[in-house]
Amino acid sequence: MHFYIKSYGCQMNVYDSQRMGDILISLGHKQEDQAENANLLIFNTCSIREKADDKLFSDLGRAKVLKDKSSENDFIIVVAGCVAQTRPEDLLARHPYVDMILGPQSIQSISERIDDLIKNKNLDTLILTDQKASDKFEKFNKTGSFAEKSVSEYLTIQEGCDNFCTYCVVPHTRGREFSRSVKEITAEAKSLVANGVKEITLLGQNVNSYNGVDESGETSRLSRLLWELSSIEGLKRLRYTTSNPKDVDEDIAKAHRDIDILMPFLHLPVQSGSDEILRKMNRKYGRERYFEVIDMLRSYRPDMAFSSDFIVGFPGETDQDFEDTLDLVKKVKFSQAYSFKYSPRPNTPAAKMKNQVSGDVKAGRLQRLQDLLNQQQSDFNSSFVGREVEVLLAKEGRHSGQLAGRSEYFQAVTVGNSDGLNIGDIVKVRVTNAVSHSLIGEEYQIEEKCEIKRKSKVGGIDEC
Ligand code: SAH
Ligand code: SF4
Ligand code: F3S
Repeated sequence: MHFYIKSYGCQMNVYDSQRMGDILISLGHKQEDQAENANLLIFNTCSIREKADDKLFSDLGRAKVLKDKSSENDFIIVVAGCVAQTRPEDLLARHPYVDMILGPQSIQSISERIDDLIKNKNLDTLILTDQKASDKFEKFNKTGSFAEKSVSEYLTIQEGCDNFCTYCVVPHTRGREFSRSVKEITAEAKSLVANGVKEITLLGQNVNSYNGVDESGETSRLSRLLWELSSIEGLKRLRYTTSNPKDVDEDIAKAHRDIDILMPFLHLPVQSGSDEILRKMNRKYGRERYFEVIDMLRSYRPDMAFSSDFIVGFPGETDQDFEDTLDLVKKVKFSQAYSFKYSPRPNTPAAKMKNQVSGDVKAGRLQRLQDLLNQQQSDFNSSFVGREVEVLLAKEGRHSGQLAGRSEYFQAVTVGNSDGLNIGDIVKVRVTNAVSHSLIGEEYQIEEKCEIKRKSKVGGIDEC
């Protein structure tokens, strides 16, 4: 069949979608970039905020039109991921033309089930939401990798989450925390590098609590895993996300000082600057702890840049709580950040809390916070004009003759005079200009030449 996969939400879904793609390619199916050219549509969904749900429902409407138009009767629609996990029956009741529902730890089942679906058998057993993360990775390991690789790719090292922040659906969709073994992760990283990958971003909802077993049966912390991966020849850059401030330890700070391919950038979501709100969120740290973690990392790696996530309008958030968030932002100074209005999610404690904040207040606070964060990002980027940054070229730029990539600090950088450069090269670039969310660079010096010729393909790192 010709399949098309759309991924919503976080990087973990992007990784899962790629692995589903590998499985289908290994079975002889062909991947398409456009839904219109496919007869197997897979929606790998996200349920983190209400808006994410809404996107799926409008896409499903369009998928139904394609299915109705299809002259053959082998047109299949699959809903996978976090929405699929939380309310499969509801989904099927509202969208009866959906053929298969796969939770985030059950996506590997697509390999056994797709034939049944093609032959239209087994129609009553198409909801699969009860498998284990270990089964999923076992299947991925056996399948191997088929799709063409970008210069920068994701590698999931940990599934699920045990933190139960009171606003969050993730523990309910991805289940309990599970760490893959060091051996498995190393083998996958080596295979990525052998296929031309230069940068790997390790993924998990809380990677600082990684505790996979190593070859000797001992548990390994994230810092040990980073050391292990840093010795892979040909791997030029390592990143990891997402970190929870409560679990960041000194070994990680030392790793940022000592591992030269570990990039000086950390996504460290704080959510709020108010101790009272952090307590109600069940984040298990306060603002002082956040400052301590930032200071510790900067003491080992002074040029470390930080991004974060913020939620405004959590139930009971007062004007003063919000001012505390602005105050924290002013003290830390972020290089970039994501901020969201609190969105009540089914079956989470915060959705039932009193003192829900009105939409207008949330909108006003979000605007003020984003103005401040945008100003900080712009100040951070402007401070690079005239300086040199090292860029891993990952794709073509918007205009012909341009190539684009990320700096060590995760800034988007466009290189103007790219003659003689290839995607996959690492170049030193002099920054000539800083525009809202990116840098423009000219004059370069090649640090690492990439020997592989490839088409421009959006790498994992661009999706977040
Ligand atoms: N594991 C990561 C976050 C994963 S979800 C961590 O703990 O930081 C990504 C981001 O979505 C969160 O950091 C949070 O800012 C936001 N988010 C999660 N649930 C939300 C909700 N109910 N409403 C609004 N934003 C939410
Ligand atoms: Fe959600 Fe909290 Fe887990 Fe992050 S740490 S995934 S916000 S429950
Ligand atoms: Fe969304 Fe699930 Fe990721 S809810 S953010 S796709 S873990």
